[in-house]
Amino acid sequence: MSLAENRDYASSVPNDLESFWVPFTPNRAFKKRPRFVTRAKGMNYYTPDGRAIMDGSAGMWCTNAGHNRDSIVAAIQQSAAEIDYAPPFQFAHPKSFELASRIAALAPGDLDHVFFTNSGSEAVDTALKIALAYHHAKGQSSRTRLIGRERGYHGVGFGGISVGGIVRASR
Ligand SMILES: Cc1ncc(COP(=O)(O)O)c(C=O)c1O
Repeated sequence: MSLAENRDYASSVPNDLESFWVPFTPNRAFKKRPRFVTRAKGMNYYTPDGRAIMDGSAGMWCTNAGHNRDSIVAAIQQSAAEIDYAPPFQFAHPKSFELASRIAALAPGDLDHVFFTNSGSEAVDTALKIALAYHHAKGQSSRTRLIGRERGYHGVGFGGISVGGIVRASR
């Protein structure tokens, strides 16, 4: 199948909401009454019919500078046009070092090193591994217990789940 045929085929498949498994959401209830947002600007999301919904939690705590800011959109566009992906194993992009230095300069005390991840889940799993490795390096390798709290959310990796306390959503 050519790319064009493939595109035609994909757009002819009816969108019956079945294929996408919505995370941490009662799927049957959601699909009976879906809540879509299709646009965002500043502190608001917008529904397909143009209704504004104030985004009080900044996405999932990740759009704190506001949605769709012109300067951020321009920086993303410029970056993707220059190099869309740089392999981080055995190679690097100079901007990773620049950003790490800037974060280390902002961070207090002796927080001088930065490890980048793609998500909170990855960050939490990495932090748990660092905690275990820290005690191991100090000769206390029996210290392996990780303590979580009820209703805590630490992402979807096995490490994060093991210290998380989210119960099953009601249907
Ligand atoms: C404390 C905490 N840990 C982990 C995560 C998981 O982040 P992500 O959804 O990017 O994997 C979140 C996300 O909200 C979080 O608030």
